Amino acid sequence: MTTWQKTDWRTRPRVQMPDYTDPAALTAVEAQLSKFPPLVFAGEVRSLRAKLAAASRGEAFLLQGGDCAESFAEFSADNIRDTFKVLLQMAVVLTFAAKVPVVKVGRMAGQFAKPRSAPTETIGGVELPSYRGDIINGFDFTPEARVPDPSRMLQAYTQAAASLNLLRAFSKGGYADIHRVHSWTLGFTDREEAEKYREMASRISDTLDFMSAAGITSETSNAMSTVDFYTSHEALLLEYEEALTRVDSTTGQTIAGSGHMIWIGDRTRQPDGAHVAFARGVQNPIGLKCGPSLSSDDLKRLLELLNPKNEAGRITLIARFGAGKVGDHLPRLIRAVREEGANVLWTCDPMHGNTIKSASGYKTRPFENVLHEVQEFFAIHKAEGTIPGGVHFEMTGKDVTECTGGVRAVSDEDLSDRYHTACDPRLNASQALELAFLVAEELSGRREEARRAIL
Ligand code: PEP
Ligand code: CO
Repeated sequence: MTTWQKTDWRTRPRVQMPDYTDPAALTAVEAQLSKFPPLVFAGEVRSLRAKLAAASRGEAFLLQGGDCAESFAEFSADNIRDTFKVLLQMAVVLTFAAKVPVVKVGRMAGQFAKPRSAPTETIGGVELPSYRGDIINGFDFTPEARVPDPSRMLQAYTQAAASLNLLRAFSKGGYADIHRVHSWTLGFTDREEAEKYREMASRISDTLDFMSAAGITSETSNAMSTVDFYTSHEALLLEYEEALTRVDSTTGQTIAGSGHMIWIGDRTRQPDGAHVAFARGVQNPIGLKCGPSLSSDDLKRLLELLNPKNEAGRITLIARFGAGKVGDHLPRLIRAVREEGANVLWTCDPMHGNTIKSASGYKTRPFENVLHEVQEFFAIHKAEGTIPGGVHFEMTGKDVTECTGGVRAVSDEDLSDRYHTACDPRLNASQALELAFLVAEELSGRREEARRAIL
C-alpha cells in the first residue's frame, strides 16, 4: 500500500477551488503558513473523536453550529461571544433532555471558504466571479475584489487563532458557568411569546438548585463552571489545509491543524476527487455532508476510503436533504451503512436543504421547515432502530433577520431589516434557542421510550 502524502490531492480532480493567478505569491503564503503553529493540538482531536464515538452509540449528542461563512468584516469579540453564548444555552437544554453529555462544536475559527452553486454571478448585466469566502476573495461586487488573493489565507489564519484564543478563554475562564448560562435562558423563557418553554426551563432550575444543595456547585465541580469546546469548518481550500497539516510528535499521526473537526461538503465529496484525497490521511474527525444526490454506492466507497479501519468517532454523516425529502434518502443511506457494518455518527443539518428565495428576493429558510426536517430525521432513525446523534445549524448569537418564523416571528417583509450573512441565512439567537427546546422534546421522547423498554 502506498502511504498517504498531504500533497496527494494535488493530482486529483478538484472542484470549487480558486485558480490563483500569481503562483509565486501563493507559494510564498503556503511556505509562511507551514511554519506557523497549528491551531489545535492532536490530543484535543483525539478527545473529540472519543466523544463523537460516544455520540454514535447514543452516549452523547453532538451540537454543531455557527456561521455559514465567517467574515473579516464581522470579526469582533462580541460576535464570537454571542454565538458561543447561544451554543452554550442550547447545550444546557439539550443535555437536560438527552441526559447525556452534549459535545459542543462551533462552525467557528476557520469556517471561511465557501462552495458556490455557480462560478460567476451576474448583477445588472455585469458578470463577475462568485464570492467564495473571505479566505479566497472579497464580497464586494467589483472585478478587483473577486480576484482570488492568497494573502487572505494569512488573515484567515490570524482571525482563526484570535477567535480560538477567545473561545478557549471563555470555555475555561468562568464565562461558561452553567448557572450563568441557564440564567440567560430564563431571560428568554420569561418573555410572553416563549411561555411554552418555561416549564422545561424551570425544571432545569430545580435540578441546578438540587445539585447545589447536594454540594455540586461551580466551586466544587469543574464540570459546572467550564466546558470543552471544539472548532470545525469545511476543508475546502486545500492549499490552506495542507499548509497547516502537522505530524504529532508523540504518536506520529498526521493532523489537520486548522481546526478540531473538518468536513467535506456536499459539492466536493467525489470519491476520486481532491477533497477526499486530502481528508482520508488526517486523523481528525471527518464530517461528510449527505445530500439527495449521494448514491448508496458512493457512500459505501467514501466510508471505505475515509475510514478503512472502521473506527468509531472518525465519521460523522451530516444528513441535509430538505424538509419532506428525508424519507426519500435517509433510509437507503442507513441501509448502505448497515450493509457495510460501518461505524458512523448520524447528525442532521436541517439548513442546507431548506433554502428558498423569499418574495422580497432574499435567500431565507422558514423555521418550520428547519424543524420539520429535524423531526423527520428523528422519526426515521426511530423506525430504523438507529441513533440520531446530533444536529448541525447555521446560526448566530445576533438578532438578525435571515430565517423566517420562530416565536418572535420574522416575516418575509422583515428580512431586509438585519440581513447580515455573507452567505446562507442563519437562525438568530432566539430561533436557535427555540430550536434547541424543540429538539429537546424529540430527545426526551426518545429517552422515555428507552426507559420503558428497559423496565
Ligand atoms: C455549508 O455547510 O455551509 C454548506 C455549503 O453545506 P453543503 O455542503 O451541505 O451544501
Ligand atoms: Co451554508
